[in-house]
Amino acid sequence: MRYMPIAKVDAGMVLGQGILDREGEVMLAKGTLLGQEETRSLVDMGVSGIYIEDAASSGLEVPGLISQALWQEALRLVYDLFQEGDAPEVGQDDIIDVARRMTKELLAGRGLLYNRMDIRAADDYTFFHAVNVAALSVMLGIQTENLDLEELTMLAAAGLVHDVGRRYVEEAVLNAKRALTEEERMLVVQHAKLSYDYLKEHYDFAPEVLAGVLEHHEWYNGCGYPMRRSGYEISYFARIIKIADVFDALTSKVPYHDPVSPSGAVDYILANTGAEFDPDLAELFVKKIAIYPAGCQVELSDGRDALVLENSPESLLRPKVRVLPDGEVVDLQEAKDLAVLELKV
Ligand SMILES: [Fe+2]
Repeated sequence: MRYMPIAKVDAGMVLGQGILDREGEVMLAKGTLLGQEETRSLVDMGVSGIYIEDAASSGLEVPGLISQALWQEALRLVYDLFQEGDAPEVGQDDIIDVARRMTKELLAGRGLLYNRMDIRAADDYTFFHAVNVAALSVMLGIQTENLDLEELTMLAAAGLVHDVGRRYVEEAVLNAKRALTEEERMLVVQHAKLSYDYLKEHYDFAPEVLAGVLEHHEWYNGCGYPMRRSGYEISYFARIIKIADVFDALTSKVPYHDPVSPSGAVDYILANTGAEFDPDLAELFVKKIAIYPAGCQVELSDGRDALVLENSPESLLRPKVRVLPDGEVVDLQEAKDLAVLELKV
């Protein structure tokens, strides 16, 4: 399968990965032959790209951080968590169960890089974001080598619920394509505290989960919110979630901005270490992000286009690629006279 930016998606292409709705249901199944109507509806939904199957990418699989089945289950859980009503529909055990299974899958794939472009509709951002932040947080948590299975599970749970306070903010405000009014902005800013209050009232989570949620918008230099905590005053979980949160937000298509490439998001994080982000954690995080994700098209320094086949954590700028359209495979770790010029997404 290969990644195809939405502008290049055409009728007649075959889906290489199913497209999920916000409830975790398969909206368009893997293997679907796209017609005009499907193509148009993907554009209307604000999907920034899809994975397709074609001859050039045949045999290429791009593993996600967690399996598609678990993604679906986690999405369903988050969707239920965000439903209105006084009493939550989701039990704490259900959250921890999904968090633990996510953690186990991530631990099983220890060496995995974040190598995948995320496929989601712009309006479904809140739900996909929660699941991806949980997965990315655990990926970073594993890298620190400081956390055991139970702690990583709590970190995943904190990731899944970190934005639950957004249930009090209307969708029209969350998805606004315009600048927010001062009142609306205040409401958005309060969501970390609202999340914390909601969890404290309805659940019995460990203090580190609650702190991770409450402080996930604090900045390392003390310029964040809601308490303007700085440095190690900010809990470990919150410093981890903060990085995952910003990375996912930047690389997603949301109603108010187009996605930034993985390298753009890595640049942003590196440029803001010590200000927004804990420098040690940020350094560990960026080592796990594929700059040129597998399945993406790139331009090589000799002007040829190529498809990224494989990344190795030791050399994130020099993947193994297949030149298009003739199929020659080049390992850029060996072919030092060549380099990737840019990611074409
Ligand atoms: Fe948030």
